[in-house]
Amino acid sequence: MNREDAFKLLQEHVKTDRLLRHSFAVEGAMIAYAKKLGENEDRWGLLGLLHDIDYEKFPEEHPDFAPKLLSETDLGDDFINSILSHGTNSPYPRDSKERQCLHAVDEMASFIIAVALMRPTRFEGLKAKSVKKKMKDKRFAAAVDREELLTSVESLGTEFNEHIDIIVNGLIEEEKMINADGYTLLG
Ligand SMILES: [Fe+2]
Ligand SMILES: [Fe+2]
Repeated sequence: MNREDAFKLLQEHVKTDRLLRHSFAVEGAMIAYAKKLGENEDRWGLLGLLHDIDYEKFPEEHPDFAPKLLSETDLGDDFINSILSHGTNSPYPRDSKERQCLHAVDEMASFIIAVALMRPTRFEGLKAKSVKKKMKDKRFAAAVDREELLTSVESLGTEFNEHIDIIVNGLIEEEKMINADGYTLLG
């Protein structure tokens, strides 16, 4: 499945801007990590783009409905199991880099966008220091579990500051790509 078809499928199941933006953000972060680790950028990008495909229609069951929504595709069991592995208390182990990475960038990519929106220069010059400061502010993006942000990057084995740099760079690239289609991460 190519990116164009994946995006069409995503649009069939995701109508809200908020979730679309999150899907783009995780796509950008996953592509940046794939580049960094020499992994398959297309596959990792699609994992990011599609990981929450069932969330809007089946928020309670998420991500357990993803296999049904992806069943007509050629993405394969291993890909689909990687999507399943990002769920809370998932029976699918995060036993590969792509699974650890998906988990580590999922909440963080959107948290970084929330930080960028508070800054006049947005992503430009956004460093780990600003992210850490906002992580300490409990009222900021209060729903985001700080502990999870930290433990997921520990499992991945990337140093925290580098983790932020990789994701910020990925978001900058993603923003350029989706701007061409009339979307933005910073809406
Ligand atoms: Fe999710
Ligand atoms: Fe997500």
